[in-house]
Amino acid sequence: MGSNKLRSKILVKKDKEYIEWWDSIAFEYDSKVLSPLYPMVKNPIFKFVEGLNSKDYERVVDLGCGRGEFLGFLSRRFKEVWGIDWSKNMLRIASETHKGKKNVHLIRLDIRGLKAFYEYFDLAFSINAIAPHDASVAEDMV
Ligand SMILES: C[S@@+](CC[C@H](N)C(=O)[O-])C[C@H]1O[C@@H](n2cnc3c(N)ncnc32)[C@H](O)[C@@H]1O
Repeated sequence: MGSNKLRSKILVKKDKEYIEWWDSIAFEYDSKVLSPLYPMVKNPIFKFVEGLNSKDYERVVDLGCGRGEFLGFLSRRFKEVWGIDWSKNMLRIASETHKGKKNVHLIRLDIRGLKAFYEYFDLAFSINAIAPHDASVAEDMV
């Protein structure tokens, strides 16, 4: 087996483990992750978003949206809001939280492979999610 093929096989196996890990902590997220979106954290992103003219950015996406903690804030400001994550449990919680919000769309995908959305979004956020287990894949994520 060529070294590239072997490397991809190892990465796919690692991805599977990572997805399972995120799935496993989704329901106890608060005790496992220190989130920059928690109310006690002074996060400049809220001010930044408030300073934007929402008419200039109709379609926005949160890459690695997790339980959708940022989506409510975004959905009050932008016309169309997407949350993308590869963990089904994270998305389950997000869909429960944002049930009935017509402008919030959730989709289960690997954020390193979003060719189908090429040039679709006007603005992309990613909070605490671009942390690859292999530094060489970071480029695919941005
Ligand atoms: C620390 S959580 C942050 C969640 C959210 N952004 C927040 O701040 O509340 C990281 C999230 O990124 C997701 N994630 C990591 N790598 C991903 C990838 N390659 N594709 C899709 N989601 C990914 C995980 O499933 C997890 O929900």
